[in-house]
Amino acid sequence: MQFGLFEERPHYYATLDDLVAHMMKMEDDPLFPKGTNMVIYRGNPAAKLMIVGEAPGTEEDRLGKPFVGRSGQLLDQILQAVHLDPEKDVFITNAVFRLPPGDDGKPLRKPTSEEIAFYKPYLLEIIRLVDPVVMLLTGNVATESLLGQVGITKLRGQWFEWNGRYAMPIFHPAYLLRNPARTPGSPKALTWRDIQEARKKYDELLSKRG
Ligand code: URA
Ligand code: URA
Repeated sequence: MQFGLFEERPHYYATLDDLVAHMMKMEDDPLFPKGTNMVIYRGNPAAKLMIVGEAPGTEEDRLGKPFVGRSGQLLDQILQAVHLDPEKDVFITNAVFRLPPGDDGKPLRKPTSEEIAFYKPYLLEIIRLVDPVVMLLTGNVATESLLGQVGITKLRGQWFEWNGRYAMPIFHPAYLLRNPARTPGSPKALTWRDIQEARKKYDELLSKRG
């Protein structure tokens, strides 16, 4: 299936470092007034596999890197289970780059569609500069941003192809933490299938490139 990943891209940067430098100084984004930190990526900018998450949580906000809390630990374990090194083989980022603070004293809430739309051109620019071959979109916020669709239970495990890139929606690790059963058909069992399929596609595509 095709989708218009490149339809709107008002920002152009020569390098990822230039883009990151710009984003670190950004003050016109919708979450800037909330006072939370800009959190952009971890892992290897030369990696051919990209993970797109939702938004930083409290640990990520504190440390300035994505997926460094409990969800991140599980994400690393999932990658390591198919012999991918999270620091060397993978580039990890999010659809929204600041923690959206929750109302009523809660630490965080889901990003709004307006927030997702605002940060999307920055995510597209990151994708252009890093140039991954395979992408895993974890949960509904990442699929809303890049595929314009939600419904992770239906979308997960499918490949979306465009411009030689392959993107697969998968369950968010936070959802797996809330649903720890490993019985057949459980979110964890399905994710195990998905990550093996992703590893296969990654190997196929990289071997074609030679
Ligand atoms: N959840 C996400 O989606 N991203 C993070 O960076 C941390 C938790
Ligand atoms: N809802 C989400 O947002 N993500 C999941 O992975 C599952 C349900």
